[in-house]
Amino acid sequence: MKRKIYLSLAVACSMTAVAPSFADPITDNETVRTYFADVFPELAIEDYVDGVYAIDQNLRDQWLQIEEFPPYEDAVDEGKVLFDTPFANGKSYANCFDNEGVGIKQNFPYFDMEKNKVVTLELAINECRTHNGEQPLDYGKGAIAYISSYMASTSSGELINVTVPDNAAAQAAYEDGKEFFYSRRGQLNMACATCHMASAGKRLRADILSPALGQVSHFPAFRSKWDDVGTIQRRYAGCNTQIRSKPFKLQSEQYRNLEYFHTYMSNGLPINGPGTRK
Ligand code: HEC
Repeated sequence: MKRKIYLSLAVACSMTAVAPSFADPITDNETVRTYFADVFPELAIEDYVDGVYAIDQNLRDQWLQIEEFPPYEDAVDEGKVLFDTPFANGKSYANCFDNEGVGIKQNFPYFDMEKNKVVTLELAINECRTHNGEQPLDYGKGAIAYISSYMASTSSGELINVTVPDNAAAQAAYEDGKEFFYSRRGQLNMACATCHMASAGKRLRADILSPALGQVSHFPAFRSKWDDVGTIQRRYAGCNTQIRSKPFKLQSEQYRNLEYFHTYMSNGLPINGPGTRK
């Protein structure tokens, strides 16, 4: 029984994954956009932020109904309370971020030249805590996802603006994320690109596969399956598990580099998080 399910899954994700080319980030983005423009000629670039709801009218109608009473609103409110609550030392999150943390989500992740690593928003939230003598929060869900949801909401409409500086380590991190995205893994031997590039728009069991372009814009996302908001890396782990591949630790170097590449891909698209998904 199990075997049969996985077999049909393998067939649904056809094996014509887009081959990675070795190019600079700007060329990569042009390649991805040209590819999707061919697959979905009816979509404008900004439509991609709606994910699967940009390509299926039925699902879109259901989604618009859910959005009338957004299930992520409590998370945003809770996140604001947490964000505004001072640490034991009297400092707060606002002290750790540019513009006191308001309207900055579109600049994450970024490559920190001093720390020599990719810094995601969730990592920065926890580094802010430890820097101020507080315990780090668990990644993926709960308080960190609420704070991140609130911060995303203050960036609503801002255009994603991830940069890959002219620096060997930054470029290596980007390339590493790109390699992850295009590498087949797990018992099903599939890459992110197998499902979200080559099979985007196709049906996989009960789902229609969303295009990789625009996937990051609405995270953290409220999923009915989670019954709460979760971070983008929680989603990465879920997708890794689906192909029977052991997920990496949230905020591991692998997932941070993947998020760097994956977010850069959506540069220029507006932040619309948090959002809701099935
Ligand atoms: C076996 C196919 C498969 C593979 C491989 C896969 N995913 Fe997914 N992914 C899905 C399905 C199914 C969904 C839910 C429907 C949708 O939105 O695409 C999903 C959803 C997502 C979402 C949420 C989209 C949204 O609009 O909220 C993200 C982000 C995502 N995947 C990223 C990845 C990344 C990154 C990888 C590689 C680590 C990956 N996926 C690998 C099947 C896959």
